[in-house]
Amino acid sequence: MEPDPAPLLSTRAIEALQRIDPATLSEVQAFRDDFARFIMPYKFGIDEVSTKVSILREEFAELHDYNPIEHIASRLKSAESIEQKVIRKNCEPSFEAIRDAITDIAGVRIICSFVSDVYRVFQLLTAQEDINVLRVKDYIAHPKPNGYKSLHVIVEVPVFLSDGPVRVPVEVQLRTVAMDFWASLEHKIYYKYEGEVPEEILRDLTAAAGTAAQLDVKMEDIHRQVRGDGGSQYALPISV
Ligand code: GTP
Ligand code: MG
Repeated sequence: MEPDPAPLLSTRAIEALQRIDPATLSEVQAFRDDFARFIMPYKFGIDEVSTKVSILREEFAELHDYNPIEHIASRLKSAESIEQKVIRKNCEPSFEAIRDAITDIAGVRIICSFVSDVYRVFQLLTAQEDINVLRVKDYIAHPKPNGYKSLHVIVEVPVFLSDGPVRVPVEVQLRTVAMDFWASLEHKIYYKYEGEVPEEILRDLTAAAGTAAQLDVKMEDIHRQVRGDGGSQYALPISV
């Protein structure tokens, strides 16, 4: 039985709903269903990539007695933020156009202990044969002017639905704990000032990014001394 929605809505809201003509209402409902169908494969894309990363993490810990991944986070872009990007990119507002133009609807973030681990996890993930690399942006080798560092890769993964396979783009961001600490604070500050961050704070933030990068170098150096190895064969910058 359908639950009674009345207690959740004010009388005014109910009256407003009743004034909407049935054709408009059914159009809105159809759009909601289409959107749910559109977004579903992206959720599965996140599941696929997250599982791959979890397997790498567990296997690595088991075989090498070492865990290069601190944690994994993921997010599905909200309808509102897809809409904002459609406007910003001047993209045609159709599902087909959005599918082609917006490649960060599914997002996975991998936080590693050290810079060499970032490249190592990147190599291990992108070498998998069902993964297709669409684009790489190495903001570790080439930081943004504000100091932002991270290794970004858009991968395409197959998702097997009841009516056949589809390929889904997933934006994977790999970074160290120090880079993540900086990026999350910078993000909060950017939002607090609605993009108009005072010059002095911008300068302090960029300086702090440098400090975070020094910490990464120092920590990796200590780590190598403790483990007694000469460094990772994967710690090679990737061209943007
Ligand atoms: P978007 O349209 O914002 O997705 O940018 P883009 O398509 O040019 O991609 P880019 O690789 O530059 O950035 C993608 C994502 O990386 C953003 O959505 C953020 O999550 C993150 N990012 C990029 N630059 C910064 C930055 O300066 N600060 C922080 N905190 N995050 C950033
Ligand atoms: Mg984005």
